[in-house]
Amino acid sequence: QLSSVQPAPPDAILGLTESFLADPRSDKMNLTVGVYKDDSGITPIMRAVKQAEQILIEGEKTKGYLPIDGMADYRNAVRDMVFDGKVPNERAAVVQAPGGTGALRVSAEFLADQFARPRVFLPTPTWANHGAIMNAAGLEAVSYRYLSADKTSLDLPGMLDDLSANARPGDVILLHACCHNPSGVDPDAQQWEQIAARITELKLFPLIDFAYQGFGDGLAEDSVGLHTMLRHVPECLVCSSFSKNFGLYSERTGAVVMMAADQAAASASVSQIKRLVRCNYSNPPRHGASIVATILGDEALRRTWKSELMEMRQRIHRLRESFVKGMQEVAPDRDYSFLLSQKGMFSFSGLSPMQVDQLRSEHGIYLVGSGRINVAGMAEDRIDWLCEKVAAVL
Ligand code: LMR
Repeated sequence: QLSSVQPAPPDAILGLTESFLADPRSDKMNLTVGVYKDDSGITPIMRAVKQAEQILIEGEKTKGYLPIDGMADYRNAVRDMVFDGKVPNERAAVVQAPGGTGALRVSAEFLADQFARPRVFLPTPTWANHGAIMNAAGLEAVSYRYLSADKTSLDLPGMLDDLSANARPGDVILLHACCHNPSGVDPDAQQWEQIAARITELKLFPLIDFAYQGFGDGLAEDSVGLHTMLRHVPECLVCSSFSKNFGLYSERTGAVVMMAADQAAASASVSQIKRLVRCNYSNPPRHGASIVATILGDEALRRTWKSELMEMRQRIHRLRESFVKGMQEVAPDRDYSFLLSQKGMFSFSGLSPMQVDQLRSEHGIYLVGSGRINVAGMAEDRIDWLCEKVAAVL
């Protein structure tokens, strides 16, 4: 009965925001969860999103259920944004999902249900929720090396060696398409070629987490790894999220984007995914998908959205530069310049769990326990203050 239930530990990322909100200090700073903040410390609603919502308020005719696999306009727009014409339409399929997390869970359940001996290889480190999602769906998680010992660059030989030594044909490999969470360390184009060649040789199935398209170098630039993979492998699943690049965090807007070997495989796979969705959340939410479909389907709105996405990306680059410069002044013996080549919201600060605790308890600066820092959460006018406090605990 309920009286025998023991409390679960707080979530490694979202649990910290709960503590942050309860912290009475007015000068606190939350660098935990991956949400973008503007100069005023707010996670803004994008102008293109507001305009699309205006159109929807006036024109939307129904709140009736969507099909199990989601809205057709949205699915087509997402396919084009993610595959950019690199996959023939008859081999491509999209199932709308509640956010990137929902897409990962649906994908994992599908793979656990349909593959013979399902195991999934996860990079070390990876997003704190990946292992739990895979396990909850019944996939055994195995790790592969991803970062060098100092956690600032890619250990490509280690990664390839681990896959060759441990993976069996038919195993699933999870990859971050861009803006690796938590390190910001991405393979370059040439390294992607090597990774794709090894995955093909070992006959692994890529499950590609694409939560940050447009947050690294641009929509097309951030697709280089994915498009390399599409040239090499016969089939894969991509889990897209529009939480970050459309700022639709709470609208739970994501998708499973599939490249299948042929049309029959694509439609059989979609039918199986629909079966799994029907006995989970039945069908996906409408609002976020309507916004994305409206923006991507309208030339002017699309232009506005792209320029806002560019502003966010440029702001994150600026914050990286300011932080590196600030740290040079207060801790000249530490070199933080590695942050400049890293992509997206996150980087490792190099702080130990004890230093992370100290930053939180003494200064109200919240970081994830691993030392991951959300650069996109920094306040531009408080970088000097932040650097001083980081230097104080170093
Ligand atoms: C993060 O890593 O902070 C984001 O992906 C948000 C989340 O759900 O954890």
